[in-house]
Amino acid sequence: MLHLLRQSSRERFYHEMEAREILSYLPQCDDYCFASTGRSLISLLIKQLGLTDEDTCLMPAYVAEGVIQPFIQSGVNVQFYTADEKLFAKPEALETQIENDPSIKLLVLIHPFGFEQPIKPIKKRLFHKKIRILEDCAQSLFCKNAEGDLLGGEGDFSLFSLNKYLPVPDGAILQSYLPAVKVASAGFEPESEERKASIQNYMEHLHLNFEMLESDAPSESQEILEKTGDAYERYYAFISHNLSLYHPCPETLGRLKTIDFEKMMAQRIINTRFLYENLRNNTFRFVYETWDENCIPMTVPVYVNPGQRNRVISELFDQNILLSTLIDKWDFIPKDQIDNFPMEKQFIDSHLLIPVNEFLSINQMEKMVEILNKILTK
Ligand SMILES: Cc1ncc(COP(=O)(O)O)c(C=O)c1O
Repeated sequence: MLHLLRQSSRERFYHEMEAREILSYLPQCDDYCFASTGRSLISLLIKQLGLTDEDTCLMPAYVAEGVIQPFIQSGVNVQFYTADEKLFAKPEALETQIENDPSIKLLVLIHPFGFEQPIKPIKKRLFHKKIRILEDCAQSLFCKNAEGDLLGGEGDFSLFSLNKYLPVPDGAILQSYLPAVKVASAGFEPESEERKASIQNYMEHLHLNFEMLESDAPSESQEILEKTGDAYERYYAFISHNLSLYHPCPETLGRLKTIDFEKMMAQRIINTRFLYENLRNNTFRFVYETWDENCIPMTVPVYVNPGQRNRVISELFDQNILLSTLIDKWDFIPKDQIDNFPMEKQFIDSHLLIPVNEFLSINQMEKMVEILNKILTK
């Protein structure tokens, strides 16, 4: 039976068999493409939608380079909408922007860090327009909406990128709910040495991240931090210039078979609950004031006073806690329009990300939160 399939269909069949468990954690959708990176799939979507330099995609200004880059590369115009303090789009302003620009054909809505962006009120306002929604779930794998449905079922298309959540070097899925826009039968590039080297760099990045978890000397952690950053940049250099579709690599498919997704989710929920119930320090303010179990965060963002952020990072680093930021490759606020994006600017200047991942035990969470609670507001 299998040998009757064309080469590409056979490969596709093989990859889907390998990945069937992760696919069961996505909302049901018959038409999808499982490839290496999210950006290559956005590039595919641009082609399948037939977008040209006469069309515009509307997206947030605080956005991953991987989202904006395929549009720029294919000459499609990009416009930004303004977001609120939670990085959610503002439906009314969005409607006005769309009314005034008939070239807008696609709208990107991201669920930031796993927290649900309300899409229904936006869909309602777009109902009579021919504007498609790309629901970006790269940061919200396994997350559900308030009704308990997996995120990724509201847009016309949904995008997932596995290495944002899981210790895998690649893997991304684009789903299409529009019968007129098929994404499944895409053609893939054959494997190349350059791409294999890029995957090896990501494997090194993952390995170093685990080494850093074990390290309890700040000077050693600093060294590992620099090395892991370098390895990531070497990986990134390839994916950022090559938007061709590749199959997910064998390392990813192998690892997907061994990860216990239920255990992972349970530990993230335990860690997030502990953080929300026990972080009691005015130095930190949750970006999302409340949290519930529908949300399995990638990491938990908090606001700090921007003048104190570097001091807080360095005091914590000396106590073996690494709080990160997501600024590099995310700041696309037009330099001449900074005043139009005050919330995005505030987020860029004053957020910190607290880890709640499954590799942290509850004891480690307790220790971390105890230290966070002792950081002084100066
Ligand atoms: C929200 C979001 N969407 C899409 C992407 C692009 O995914 P990939 O890195 O798999 O190309 C990223 C990458 O950082 C992302 O964070």
